[in-house]
Amino acid sequence: MTIALNKPVAPNLAKLIQYLEQVHDSGWYTNFGPLHQQLTERLERFLGVENLLLVSNGTLAIQVACKVLNVQSALTTPFTFVATTSALLWQGINTAFCDIDNDSYNLCPKHVDQALQLDNSYDAIVATHVYGNPCDVAAIQNVAERYNKKIIYDAAHAFGVKVGDKSVLSFGDASTLSFHATKVFHTVEGGAIVFKHKADFEKAKQLINFGIQMDGSLGEPGINAKLNEYQCAVGLTLLDEIESIIENRANLFQQYRAALENIVELPVWHPLASYNGAYMPVCIRDNAKLLKVINALNVNEIQSRRYFTPSLDVAYSEQKSFGCNNSQKLATSILCLPLHNYISESDIKMLANIIYEELK
Ligand SMILES: Cc1ncc(COP(=O)(O)O)c(C=O)c1O
Repeated sequence: MTIALNKPVAPNLAKLIQYLEQVHDSGWYTNFGPLHQQLTERLERFLGVENLLLVSNGTLAIQVACKVLNVQSALTTPFTFVATTSALLWQGINTAFCDIDNDSYNLCPKHVDQALQLDNSYDAIVATHVYGNPCDVAAIQNVAERYNKKIIYDAAHAFGVKVGDKSVLSFGDASTLSFHATKVFHTVEGGAIVFKHKADFEKAKQLINFGIQMDGSLGEPGINAKLNEYQCAVGLTLLDEIESIIENRANLFQQYRAALENIVELPVWHPLASYNGAYMPVCIRDNAKLLKVINALNVNEIQSRRYFTPSLDVAYSEQKSFGCNNSQKLATSILCLPLHNYISESDIKMLANIIYEELK
């Protein structure tokens, strides 16, 4: 039987229907309805944040955050899902790449510092908590303060992650989430932005509703990025189970790490961070060995994905780059293994054994 790379969590159907009946009875399908309100409040409580705005996907979350913070140029990471960069480029933002840290695979604060010494014209730093592993938020904050830059974190992978006792979403001026079906928590399609400042949240709330202001008058032109009530119903249903989903995934992630730590290179985790088991990346720098592993997994009907490749400074080579050797090397060495709520510990043992046999 095929082992899937990812499998969306299925909401409990009976519970989902109860929420859908509420939508049906109220006739309120979208535009900040009662389920939208409930989901917002419950997410804020669960995540330990304020100023959370639901939006229709994680890509628009980045674009709206940039718009609200008036970002016209940004330094960003080349090692992330394409949406982090394409969202900036689609927005017409002058985007330049800085290299990642070789251990954590996240945007490297030292490289950002060096880039800003050479060119201080950028408005913002846009970094991703890759695979749910928090960036060095303290060092990025330090650089941003010294050069007076905004920070936006793409936290699409980092739902529920904490740094010490604080939500990872509480760092920076804004953090964005994706609630795509493949994510740890989902609303089929969807996302959110968590703003540091209430005023930014208020502005964003108008911008995602065409720019219509509270009194009905028109402000700055906006867009439609609202999350509808049907999708909120999925979110509310899944939120009831989210603690056990994260616990299960984090446990599976640790099983993997224990089985693989002496066989392959693994990302070095932020020392104060919790785990959400969003992804299981392994790094095999010898290309022939990497191809052998991929082949053996294929033969055993185990899905894997070279994620992320290519390095985005290569894909968008017309954009400025401050040199991204670490990212380019990693992009040809990384492989994500199956990790989702329905995989078993015995699947993981079997899979680790296949990798061991190929690399010993
Ligand atoms: C790091 C990252 N950023 C942004 C996105 C875009 O989110 P969405 O698919 O909800 O637009 C994703 C989605 O897969 C992602 O992994």
